[in-house]
Amino acid sequence: MVVVYASGGGNTRETAECAAEGVLEADAEVDIYNAYLLDASILLEADAVLVGEPTHGDGEHHGDFIPFDRSMAAHLVPGRRLAGVPAAGFVGCDRAYRKFGGAIELIENRLVECGARIMQPGLKIELRHTAQSRLFTREWGRDFVRRARGELPPVEYRPAMTREQVDAVMGITPEERARRETRGLAR
Ligand SMILES: Cc1cc2nc3c(=O)[nH]c(=O)nc-3n(C[C@H](O)[C@H](O)[C@H](O)COP(=O)(O)O)c2cc1C
Repeated sequence: MVVVYASGGGNTRETAECAAEGVLEADAEVDIYNAYLLDASILLEADAVLVGEPTHGDGEHHGDFIPFDRSMAAHLVPGRRLAGVPAAGFVGCDRAYRKFGGAIELIENRLVECGARIMQPGLKIELRHTAQSRLFTREWGRDFVRRARGELPPVEYRPAMTREQVDAVMGITPEERARRETRGLAR
């Protein structure tokens, strides 16, 4: 397995690392790479790929990820060179922004253009990881391997995670969310 990520503040790097731990728990081998200045041909070495970045701009790519995305477009889209390769995406997000975790669609669309097969819902991690979201991410990585191996059915999922689903990932109860909103805390 190959995991490629970009990260500004470290949160999305943590997502990549937690997902990789889950991959190891499923007895698969995994290499993790920072996307910055990485050639997308690295994905050709993998039986399955996970790709992630923080959402930036207004639902857009993180700057460090843009050269990697361009490299995918240039080298992997022609000839659909990831044909049939199991894949999934993960992003950082923050509900204070209009396009909540919008980069997930950009990543998934690019993977599909390369011929990859999205095996499970893209993961959105909001701001900083919690104990709950670390656990969830490990399971997400483990389940991804099982789906790639055909031990679990693929979950083709649209649209990407809602705010409520992300609260469940982060371990924020509806009561806690309501408290935060009453106090005027968007986060
Ligand atoms: C300049 C900037 C723009 C952002 N834009 C968005 C956005 O459009 N949508 C969103 O959901 N989150 C947005 N975020 C939130 C980040 O995706 C989130 O904080 C993420 O956890 C950062 O991950 P990192 O620690 O790996 O850099 C933005 C953050 C920054 C700093």
